[in-house]
Amino acid sequence: MILYFAPLEGITDGIFRQVHHRLFGGIDVYGLPFHKLTQSLSLTTREKRDIAPEENRGLRVLPQALTRDPAQLAAWLEYVHTLGYPCADLNLGCPSPTVTRRGRGSGMLRDLPALRVFFDRVFAESLPVSLSVKTRIGCESPDEWPAILSLLADYPFAHVTVHVRTMREQYTGGLHPEAFDLALRTGLPYPVYNGDLRTPEDVQALVARCPGTGAVMIGRGLLADPALARRIRGGPEAGMDELRAWYTALYEGWRDRFQATMALGRIKKLMEWPGGDDIRKKRLLRRAGDIGSCIDAVLGEG
Ligand SMILES: Cc1cc2nc3c(=O)[nH]c(=O)nc-3n(C[C@H](O)[C@H](O)[C@H](O)COP(=O)(O)O)c2cc1C
Repeated sequence: MILYFAPLEGITDGIFRQVHHRLFGGIDVYGLPFHKLTQSLSLTTREKRDIAPEENRGLRVLPQALTRDPAQLAAWLEYVHTLGYPCADLNLGCPSPTVTRRGRGSGMLRDLPALRVFFDRVFAESLPVSLSVKTRIGCESPDEWPAILSLLADYPFAHVTVHVRTMREQYTGGLHPEAFDLALRTGLPYPVYNGDLRTPEDVQALVARCPGTGAVMIGRGLLADPALARRIRGGPEAGMDELRAWYTALYEGWRDRFQATMALGRIKKLMEWPGGDDIRKKRLLRRAGDIGSCIDAVLGEG
């Protein structure tokens, strides 16, 4: 099974990826959060740092772009190539209204004839790196999926990641694994399943339901349990000492890069995931004034 760490904008930056790889491993490819492309292709300092080879030493990463403009995408793919990466991804999944209103992200799924024109132009030239896409299964309804699927099957993508929700369903609405089953049966090249995998048993259930699943992408499940990929591969659960080391190393990395207040804010956001719905833990975490108190709030006994 190929395991992708999902791109999570604002969370899975270079520091996060390196610490995760060093302490837990088990991931084949780390997705990079999207670069929002512009006419001048002027990336932000943060975007440039995130994709820099020094930031990703020792990791396999998949850069990602958000754009509806074939020329912007072509220029960016050239840039990705000069950095030495073999493959890059196009975001057809982001459901944020500020993105979709401009016809980007999952907003591109609204107008399939326009999407076809877009990909015809993208693939009219030979590409400097191979291209993959990460898509939703529709905008308003899963009924849109068969038409999207047959469109995607017409282009030579390196792989297609399918977040089995519609744009409208955002991140917590209905989940449609049958859409992935259809992708497998249609012969889409290298489909990657994405959506709500939280435990090794979830992955086993997916494989039982959709035999032929060869690759999955996991995001929030890995925030709640950083050892999840290792466990999927038959390895041990994270021990208390490992978890303390994980949060401490992340905090220190972010503190050295940004500053203490921002690092603490980031770590608190991240630690809401393992804390789950426990109100007491949430309250303790909110009040915590340093990394030690954050760790005690979430990992402490009872
Ligand atoms: C905070 C956050 C940031 C995200 N950023 C990105 C992104 O930059 N690019 C992308 O393709 N998907 C992004 N996603 C979607 C995730 O990659 C993933 O598709 C989604 O969380 C479903 O997978 P999961 O249930 O395993 O978390 C983001 C999701 C969240 C919650």
